[in-house]
Parts: sequence; structure tokens; C-alpha cells
Amino acid sequence: MALIQLESVTKAFFADRACTQAVIALDRVDLTVEEGEFVSLLGPSGCGKTVTLGLIAGFERPTEGSVLFRGRPVEGPGPERGVVFQEYSLFPWLTVRGNIAYALRGRGLSRAARLAAADDALARVGMAEFADRRPNLLSGGMKQRVAIARLLAMDSAVMLMDEPFSALDEQTRARLDDSLRQLWRREGKTVVFVTHSIAEAIAVSSRIVLFSGSPGRVAGQWRLPDDMPRDLDAPEARALRDEIRSRLEVPDL
Ligand SMILES: Nc1ncnc2c1ncn2[C@@H]1O[C@H](COP(=O)(O)OP(=O)(O)OP(=O)(O)O)[C@@H](O)[C@H]1O
Ligand SMILES: [Mg+2]
Repeated sequence: MALIQLESVTKAFFADRACTQAVIALDRVDLTVEEGEFVSLLGPSGCGKTVTLGLIAGFERPTEGSVLFRGRPVEGPGPERGVVFQEYSLFPWLTVRGNIAYALRGRGLSRAARLAAADDALARVGMAEFADRRPNLLSGGMKQRVAIARLLAMDSAVMLMDEPFSALDEQTRARLDDSLRQLWRREGKTVVFVTHSIAEAIAVSSRIVLFSGSPGRVAGQWRLPDDMPRDLDAPEARALRDEIRSRLEVPDL
């Protein structure tokens, strides 16, 4: 059974109370994500990437069609589907360790066990030495590492990431893309990653799903072999980039 399955999902937003004027964000989208995949949702602004992620996270309901997680309809947010947003989402008044421990409340763990789990997760993203800091003393990239550590501590089955590194400078972003891919390989998690950068999608993914807008539709998919070079200096990566680019330029595919 697929981990995540969108079946003919349409999502409309209504601009007025009488529900006469609809913005169709997604139009009959089919998307399957298997356990252990790293899937990027790629496409231009407004093509429905964030809406798709929101449907999987359970923030939104489809207008038509179904969104299934392990075969069951998604009815709301849940810890098995953790989200990392573009904006930083840590509590400023808690330390890094405290932020992660807070996410583990209500699980019947002692405070000591929650703090230990937080330290373990921080070590897995290379942030152990910053456990006692408050978020305002961290760089943007460090904050996103903490947000990822929080999902590791929660043991989310899937990490839903909406342009998590797009507010960072190019070098930091490339470094984090790299370490996210390493983390994914090491931890065996499933990742659904939104980006509008072709280069970033090639750097991180095991599969790229290209959306065209608007309304959002799936315009193409590519599987990337694990051993494929991801650097755009390599001919395979460049050829893929060019193919995706040319597909983007075909309207309404
Ligand atoms: N809450 C909402 N109410 C009305 N329209 C919405 C809402 N959320 C999204 N939309 C519309 O749905 C479409 C898809 O939006 P979405 O945010 O998914 O795009 P995106 O691909 O994430 O774009 P970007 O790359 O700019 O983040 C857009 O036309 C947007 O205006
Ligand atoms: Mg978006």
C-alpha cells in the first residue's frame, strides 16, 4: 500500500460567500508517494504545490477526490505527517532543546525522557552543541535544522517540507540540501519537498513531480537513480534540467 495517495484531487477556493467564483488550485491531481521516497513537487508560483502539501498535512480538505495516508482518508493534521515551513516556526521563549521536548508532550514520556529524545534528535542533525540556545541566536539554516530535528524526535513517517531553505543564501541552501539528502538516506524517512528550483529538486530527490499551473496539474515525473550525479556540472544532471525546463515551457501539458 502506498504511504500517500491523492486520487483525482480537485481543490477549489471560493472567493465569495455565495460560492460562485472559484479559484481552481488543483485539477484532478493523481499522486502516489511510496514509503522511503524523496519526492519533490516542482513548479512555478501558484501551481498548487503548497495546497498539495496542505492536503497531505491535513490543513485542507479536497473539494473532490480523496487524500489517503496508509489507505485511510486524511482528516486533519497528525504527528505522523510533520511539516517544516518556509518561515521559521520555533517558540522564541524556549531553548532549542525545549522546543523539541515541547513537541513530545502528551506522549506519556517523563520530562527527562523528552529532553533526552530532543538531544538525540539534535545530534542527528548536527545541532547538539546548540541545544541550550534560544532560536533568536541561531541562523536561518540552524533554525531549519532544529525544525527537522523536531520531526525526527516526533518520529514522523513523512516529512512535509514547503520550500524550507528558500529564505537562505545560495551556499547555505546547497549545504542544507546536501545534508537533508544524507539524512534521508540514513534515516529511511519519506520526504515530500516543495521547491520552485529545478536545481534544488535535482540535488535532493529520488523522484521529481512537475506541476503546471493554473489550475495545478501534474505535467511530468522523473525518477532519479540513487547514484546519479546531482551537480549541474555533470551531463546527466544538466540534461535532466534542460528536459524539465522544456517541459515547463509547454503550456497546459
Ligand atoms: N486559502 C486560499 N484561498 C484562496 N485561494 C488560494 C488559497 N490558497 C491557495 N490559493 C490559490 O491556489 C493556487 C495555488 O496556490 P499555492 O499556494 O498552492 O501555490 P504554490 O505552487 O505553492 O506557489 P508558490 O511557489 O508561490 O508558493 C493559487 O492560485 C492561489 O492563489
Ligand atoms: Mg507555495
